[in-house]
Amino acid sequence: MTQRNRAGKAKPTDAGSTEIDLALFGALGDLAQRKLYPALYQLDREGLLDPATRLLGLARQDVDLDGFRMQVEKTLRNYVKGEELEDEALARFLARLDFIQLDFTQPEGYDAIREWRQQGLLRPMVVYLSVAAKIYGDICHHLEASGSLDEQSRVVVEKPIGYDLDSSAEINDAIGAVFPESRIYRIDHYLGKETVQNLIALRFANPLFGTQWNQNHISHVEITVAEKVGIEGRWNYFDEAGQLRDMVQNHLLQLVCLIAMDPPANLDADAIRDEKVKVLKALKPFTDDMLGRDVVRGQYMAGTTDGQAVPGYLEEEGANTESQTETFVAMKTGVANWRWAGVPFYLRTGKRMPEKLSQIIIHFRQQPHYIFDPDQRGLASNKLVIRLQPEEGIALEVLTKDSGLDKGMRLRRGPLYLDFSSAFPKTRIPDAYERLLLEVMKGQQYLFVRRDEVEHAWQWCDNLVAAWADRDEPPRRYPAGSWGPVASIAMITQDGRSWYEDY
Ligand code: BG6
Repeated sequence: MTQRNRAGKAKPTDAGSTEIDLALFGALGDLAQRKLYPALYQLDREGLLDPATRLLGLARQDVDLDGFRMQVEKTLRNYVKGEELEDEALARFLARLDFIQLDFTQPEGYDAIREWRQQGLLRPMVVYLSVAAKIYGDICHHLEASGSLDEQSRVVVEKPIGYDLDSSAEINDAIGAVFPESRIYRIDHYLGKETVQNLIALRFANPLFGTQWNQNHISHVEITVAEKVGIEGRWNYFDEAGQLRDMVQNHLLQLVCLIAMDPPANLDADAIRDEKVKVLKALKPFTDDMLGRDVVRGQYMAGTTDGQAVPGYLEEEGANTESQTETFVAMKTGVANWRWAGVPFYLRTGKRMPEKLSQIIIHFRQQPHYIFDPDQRGLASNKLVIRLQPEEGIALEVLTKDSGLDKGMRLRRGPLYLDFSSAFPKTRIPDAYERLLLEVMKGQQYLFVRRDEVEHAWQWCDNLVAAWADRDEPPRRYPAGSWGPVASIAMITQDGRSWYEDY
């Protein structure tokens, strides 16, 4: 593909350099304020942004540069911890900002972006689209037509990419008409989380786990991504999506991929992503008879969170009281290949649960021959608990002898625990967006999702959504502040197992 290149030839940068121009579409939006400015500020504070890097905010709103900088400063004061807000770093960060008011869907105004780039000595440009996916194509087209791009420009897009396989293909085609795959960075912010990254280190740097990581040694895998919050003013978006599309299609399936994939040949982006795609292709599809047994959809009713009464999903502001959208999903699935044959993967995720908790539990098989107290047999297996949030850490549950003369050979379960914040007390655990932004700037793609990953994930979800539609059953209700519908507990109990409870 040849791009018109009226902006001129981009200055070549060293591999790994963060000397770029970042153009942020949706600069006054929610994501930019909650996540992107705080992350960029932290990178600047840590000395990870090149002194020459510039940030251009683009939004429809009519504000001038001073107004924009004031707004960003207010945001930072809101979202960055007081002790991390340093005057010098703040002033340096604000001085990097520029602003252009723009109607994103119209071609007029894009020339101003080209001119802004020319002032910046044509460093590579990163275009960050923090806007609705349906206008990704328009923006890419107008950027190209105005000559604002060159052969080094990259684009970052946020989920959700579409609503199903067809709509995601349409959006990906529109982006792909302007940017080649090697310069498209699809964000799944879970891939930027510290412990998610650690899954790769844990699995592939530790021979102890490497040799055990298969159906001979692992009985089942459990993933819980629970949120305490409800819909938070996003009712319209959420009601079209539901928890399956909002959380499972992306975040949970990415976690499944990192747990289930075979070792990549190296850490190159495509080596990792090739292995992840193989997992997505091997995910078991849901057949009709599995639906009633292995999948539970739920919707929260009024209840309590932290002792405060909270409304049900259908009573949230702007709600359609007939909605049957799920705010909770639990499912038993699996990966149909040699490594994972017969190993169930139990997934559950929901809004308005008792706490915010994301964790993965690898349950190892029991010893082939058991010699201890028969009453304690239920205790007798090792578990690896990988806590993504809060309190990031890894615990390996082992069995030891209970101490004391009167205990005989009674067993006791206890963790070998690596809590990241106490193990590395001087290291701040960065937010996922800090890492992701840094990798985009450096032009490293391994933490971003390739088109075929998105599409295989949609294919699997579409199959489930179609099966749900055929059954036309309302979601099961659960009170806000609970762990979901009772049926989700029955789903795992029918296999003689239970959802993991913290030690
Ligand atoms: C987003 C979803 O992708 O992830 C939100 O759209 C959800 O609905 C959020 O609340 C959860 O992210 P985290 O990092 O808070 O677990």
